[in-house]
Amino acid sequence: MLIRHPPTVRASEITPEAAYLGRRRFMRHAALLGAGMWVGAASAGILPGAAALAAGGSADKPNSWEEITSYNNFYEYSSDKRAVATLAKNLDPHPWTIRIEGEVEQPRTIDIDALLRQLRPQERILRLRCVEGWSMVIPWDGVPLADVLRLVQPTSRARYVRFVSLHDPARLYGQRRATLPWPYTEALTIAEAMHPLTLMATGLYGKPLPNQNGAPIRLVVPWKYGFKSIKSIVAIHFEEQQPHTTWPQVSNDYGFYANVNPHVANGRGSQSRENRIGELHKRQTQLFNGYASEVAHLYRGLDLDRYL
Ligand code: MTE
Repeated sequence: MLIRHPPTVRASEITPEAAYLGRRRFMRHAALLGAGMWVGAASAGILPGAAALAAGGSADKPNSWEEITSYNNFYEYSSDKRAVATLAKNLDPHPWTIRIEGEVEQPRTIDIDALLRQLRPQERILRLRCVEGWSMVIPWDGVPLADVLRLVQPTSRARYVRFVSLHDPARLYGQRRATLPWPYTEALTIAEAMHPLTLMATGLYGKPLPNQNGAPIRLVVPWKYGFKSIKSIVAIHFEEQQPHTTWPQVSNDYGFYANVNPHVANGRGSQSRENRIGELHKRQTQLFNGYASEVAHLYRGLDLDRYL
């Protein structure tokens, strides 16, 4: 039986103001530094404390390259997390294009290399919380999704953005089985898609994104369960109606919103605690994965108990 509690945002769950202001200052600082310089400085540890601020104001330490690249959910290859990295070697993600279409003034096919010359990647250290109960802190390199979407001028009818992963059973062996409805599909509201925390990641620790993490480009929505952060994207559609996405088709206990919520159980049972990879003891899961002060306003008036 599911135990549900009111979705109130408690003061204790909101990042302390000082940490929040600190993070805002840090973001400005990072912007001033310039994307390339910041990536280098952060990886070399020249900016002490910056990583913690970027991860949400706490003393979150990034997970290691090894942890992030050897424990992966990517059902197109396998449902065995430890097997994904080896199976994914089969894919050469170059060249790669993304088709952007639907409710837009100017549909476009974007080449990823050209995109990265136009929009320089920035480092963003963000928490990832999987609905299976594990979490990591990941130093992504990427560009804000909003910057990509502005290139195509959405029409006034565009209310949702739908993302589609690569469908290629010849190379993605897991797609030869009906483990999930293929291709893997995810979607956001326009407001979520335009939020500055929503990232199109193209790298990790200053290196190109490994195949198992969604090369060459994947979504990162840090306040939602990890399944929203769709990998190896080939198409983006702007739509008027709420799209059908992969996981709610598998079970009614997975919702469209999938905001991290420790008070509400879902398809994988209680979500109150999590196992940070590399740590011995479980942690309390935070509402919106600790990003409430940045994103709670997006859901004002929405019953988070009902709209999973
Ligand atoms: N994207 C695609 N295309 N296929 C997948 O199976 N798994 C999701 C998400 N994106 C998945 C996907 C899930 S359940 C999680 S938790 C994250 O990717 C895991 O990302 P990581 O392997 O980079 O940690």
